[in-house]
Amino acid sequence: MASFQSELKALNQPTDRGDGCRVFIETYGCQMNVYDSQAIGGLLDKDGFETADDIFDADVVLLNTCSVRELAEHKIISRVGEIRRQRRNADLPPVTVGICGCMAERLGGELQKGTNRVDLVVGVDNYDKLPGMLSELVTSQSSARRKRTATGHRSDAHYVAPPSLYPVNNSHLVTIHKGCDYKCTYCIVPYTRGPQTEKSPQAILDEIHTLVDSGATEVTLLGQNVTAYNWQKELDFAALLESVSGIDGLERIRFLTGHPKDMHPHTMDAIGSLDKVCPWLHLPIQSGSNAVLKRMKRLYKRDEYLEMVDYARRVIPDVTFSTDIIVGFPGETEEDFQATLEVLSRVKYDQIFSFKYSERPGVPAAKLADDISIDEKKRRLAEVMALQEKTWNVEAAREVGKTWTGIVESAARHPRDSWRVRTPNNRKFVVADGLSSNLFSKNTNHGLKIGDEVSALITGFANTTFLTGE
Ligand code: 5AD
Ligand code: SF4
Repeated sequence: MASFQSELKALNQPTDRGDGCRVFIETYGCQMNVYDSQAIGGLLDKDGFETADDIFDADVVLLNTCSVRELAEHKIISRVGEIRRQRRNADLPPVTVGICGCMAERLGGELQKGTNRVDLVVGVDNYDKLPGMLSELVTSQSSARRKRTATGHRSDAHYVAPPSLYPVNNSHLVTIHKGCDYKCTYCIVPYTRGPQTEKSPQAILDEIHTLVDSGATEVTLLGQNVTAYNWQKELDFAALLESVSGIDGLERIRFLTGHPKDMHPHTMDAIGSLDKVCPWLHLPIQSGSNAVLKRMKRLYKRDEYLEMVDYARRVIPDVTFSTDIIVGFPGETEEDFQATLEVLSRVKYDQIFSFKYSERPGVPAAKLADDISIDEKKRRLAEVMALQEKTWNVEAAREVGKTWTGIVESAARHPRDSWRVRTPNNRKFVVADGLSSNLFSKNTNHGLKIGDEVSALITGFANTTFLTGE
């Protein structure tokens, strides 16, 4: 099997087959896709392709897609039509359109049929083929242009993407494994992303060293299920966190997403004791009902989840939680749904991502009747969101009057001339761009910049963003 490092070396040999062809990449879905899009950009750049500013400036548009819910897929199909229309309306020649990511893997050549068909389909394990396929496509005469597809999981391609060098909100993404070995019955991911395959600890450490050498201070370790990381059954996620913590110059480590079943006490002990590891756990519960969890094949019971939360609160100072919830899973009764609401009241999450169940073709749950009406799913979703807002408002109010410290991540959209800051436990606040009596910064100059550490007095909040000031 080719190693990550040797693949990386081969990928890093520059060529000029792109010949200045301009590519625009649009990313949908999870952080793994954000990472993959950066990696695709890196591969194309090395081969002489250029980055386009938008679809109007591009010779090629790549859509990096998500298949988790049906609506996400529909949006992509309409987007293909929209891109072609917008180009026509701007009197521009037809553009080459490619689909990457989970939809490419799930639908393959199907995407090259029908009204909004595309020129190129490249699945998650085949991005190394993309520069070659693209250069053939854009240089061949239009009459000879063949539709191209590269999909399928490759056990030889351990990870074909070079490290990404661009931070997202000041954090550099580092994918530590691909795929998922769980078979949650509603989920398409094991089919689109294949079985779990870990990057070696050495490859991960090398990648982070490269990032730190180029100025990074924070990484977000990514995977469908990072807590299940277990390299050759010898080095688990807790041990990986410990190794990454040893990197000089690295200041903060975040990670996404954990599976509750793999959040072991010793993993939480490690998170609590390693100073660089941020105390924020995104642990999807999906449902608070044991009957539903069983039909979802989530492999934990509600009380086990709650015990884990209690343990984390004991051993991880200032820990905060976020979660994912699905409402309207087949057979979800009102009682099941109420059990989910009870969990929200009990855990008091900082943030929840809640979804109406969406049947995906070929997954085990597709054999169950999708028997909750769309109106009922909408009602349950609205109720979940309303309870979360109410619970959060009480929790957030307790923070007013405290002083928080965080890292400047980006310019805030609102209010003007202010910055968005994130605390280690993933809370966000905005600060004005200047120093005042209750705002003090390590940066002695007036004016903050991304990466600065700031402390500020919390004076209020709007939704999940905290306000600071006089
Ligand atoms: N329907 C609705 N939501 C889903 N998710 C995954 N599959 C489905 C589906 N078929 C949600 C889960 C998961 C998140 C990324 O998307 O809550 O944690
Ligand atoms: Fe999907 Fe479950 Fe794997 Fe998460 S753990 S990616 S929900 S199968």
